[in-house]
Amino acid sequence: MSTTTTPLAPPKEPRDEGRMLGRLFGYIGGRGRRVKFWSAVGLRAISVVALTSVPAFTGAAVNAMRSGDSAALHTWVIGAIVAVGAYALFAGFAEFMMTRLATNATMNLQRDMFATMQRLSLNFFDRQPVGQLMSRVTNDTESVATFNENAVSQMMRGIFQVLLIVILMSVTNWRLTLAALSVVPVLLLVGAVVTRAAGPAYTRLQEQLGDLSGFQEETISGHRVLISTRRQDWAVHQHDLQAGEVFTTASKATFTGLLQFPATMAMTTIQMVVVLVVGGLLAAKGEADVGGVIAFVGLAGLLASPLSDLSNLATTTLSAIAAGRRVFEIVDDRPTVVDDPAAQPLTFTGGKVEFRDVDFSYVPGRQILRKNTFTALPGQKIGICGPTGAGKSTIINILTRYYDVDAGEVLVDDQPLTAVTIGSLRANVGMVLQEAFLFSDTIMNNLRYAREGATESDCIAAAKEANAHEFIEALPDGYDTMLVERGANLSQGQRQMLTIARAMVARPRILILDEATSNVDTRTEKLIQEGLRRLMTGTTSFVIAHRLSTISDADSILVVDQGTIVQQGTHDDLLTQDGLYRNLWFSQFKGKA
Ligand SMILES: Nc1ncnc2c1ncn2[C@@H]1O[C@H](COP(=O)(O)OP(=O)(O)OP(=O)(O)O)[C@@H](O)[C@H]1O
Ligand SMILES: [Mg+2]
Repeated sequence: MSTTTTPLAPPKEPRDEGRMLGRLFGYIGGRGRRVKFWSAVGLRAISVVALTSVPAFTGAAVNAMRSGDSAALHTWVIGAIVAVGAYALFAGFAEFMMTRLATNATMNLQRDMFATMQRLSLNFFDRQPVGQLMSRVTNDTESVATFNENAVSQMMRGIFQVLLIVILMSVTNWRLTLAALSVVPVLLLVGAVVTRAAGPAYTRLQEQLGDLSGFQEETISGHRVLISTRRQDWAVHQHDLQAGEVFTTASKATFTGLLQFPATMAMTTIQMVVVLVVGGLLAAKGEADVGGVIAFVGLAGLLASPLSDLSNLATTTLSAIAAGRRVFEIVDDRPTVVDDPAAQPLTFTGGKVEFRDVDFSYVPGRQILRKNTFTALPGQKIGICGPTGAGKSTIINILTRYYDVDAGEVLVDDQPLTAVTIGSLRANVGMVLQEAFLFSDTIMNNLRYAREGATESDCIAAAKEANAHEFIEALPDGYDTMLVERGANLSQGQRQMLTIARAMVARPRILILDEATSNVDTRTEKLIQEGLRRLMTGTTSFVIAHRLSTISDADSILVVDQGTIVQQGTHDDLLTQDGLYRNLWFSQFKGKA
């Protein structure tokens, strides 16, 4: 594992709240969704107009009652009922449309993030633990989803309602309006304080949640190691510590948020009292009619809920901004290994592979490969050996263009790798890697996965060649056996045989085997070798092996030491030379000689 894990990006000075909000909104009401979004906004506006007209109706009804005009009273009461009905209807539709838009927005954001992650180059994944990434996919999108579902709709309703009520109030009675709005500065102040205090806490919270998920993921996948080293208690303790941190930060973030609700409630109550007192005084002096004051109190009452909504919004919004920042970091990341604009599909003419003075480093400043030069002719079997950490797998990573070289050139059939499309290159290269990775699916589906259009009989034929057919048939469900947890219900050797069969299904023109038979016994290896030999006829193949007998029949063997190819030649040539290969060979046969 790399010890030089660096964070995804340097922590940004979070002064981009506006831009973040704009992007989050874009997912809800951006291009392609504008009509729906503005229709929902329109319906919402109508519903607010209907709601805020109710106090006017009741005020008028009170005045009609006082003057004994029963016909007018009748009309105003019916008017109020109709207004309430209209409110319910339009608000319902608006809510329905907003919810759909919100769900869609969350889905699209997740899709964008997932799609980017699929396209990113491997160094992206080298930079961070899987659990951290998972947290961005789950926790962070969850926060954004909460925002999408509640905040936007509340914000719209709140802003409309407050604006409309303030306008209506000032038209009705400006002195009462001033009285009613006297509490607003206090509310704004509380809002500002909470935002300043809670904003950074939310940013830290999302980061800590990421760390916690990372830790959980690693301990769950590494549970065997934990058990064997009896570190379970340690793991629980570590988990407690990290979860404790999350708890503390979350408490801070939500506590400051909680200030807001009581403050809003207190202020709106005070406001009501002020309006009643001032209204009563004005009515007593004959400067306002009782119905008008009642209508006014009704309007002021309608301010309480949107104001508290708006203040609670701060919490959801701050959390969504913090999470959105982390999600967009992924969405905005661009692969470093990309097709050149002029890249052409690879023209396959036999499978010649050439390395010319290739230098490479995963991390700047720590060079791994130095001046690697070799040629594999079409159809040749090239063995690669050398001590652990020498750079054998790295050579393969370069050949498949998982990473780009620092210097030098790699050519396939005389075409530089940078001049061909990555897709066409990989379509021609098949691999069986050191770590046998299988999906949690049936054996058959894992095999078919290798090539689009592969039939069941192709897969069974491949399994037979890879010597896997027998053990598969012996499983209770045969080819339909579900692999749990990426194949944990198989032995290592069985998993390797499946990955070899999978490579055989792919029928690649260039084949790479990285320690592909290291986990099977020598007798099984012999059987697999036969199958592989058939697969390899006419295929250029690279076979990395510590067990030198696996590659002793290769057309050429590359001996790698500390990133340099120190020897090249056939087994017989290399044995005659006094070098690393002969040392390795004789050390493996010491016991037998
Ligand atoms: N993703 C990575 N990021 C940074 N360094 C890496 C990465 N992968 C490998 N390395 C480093 O590159 C060097 C060569 O690794 P490589 O995997 O090529 O060795 P190898 O010859 O295949 O060894 P083994 O026989 O154990 O498989 C090692 O020193 C390793 O630490
Ligand atoms: Mg390796």
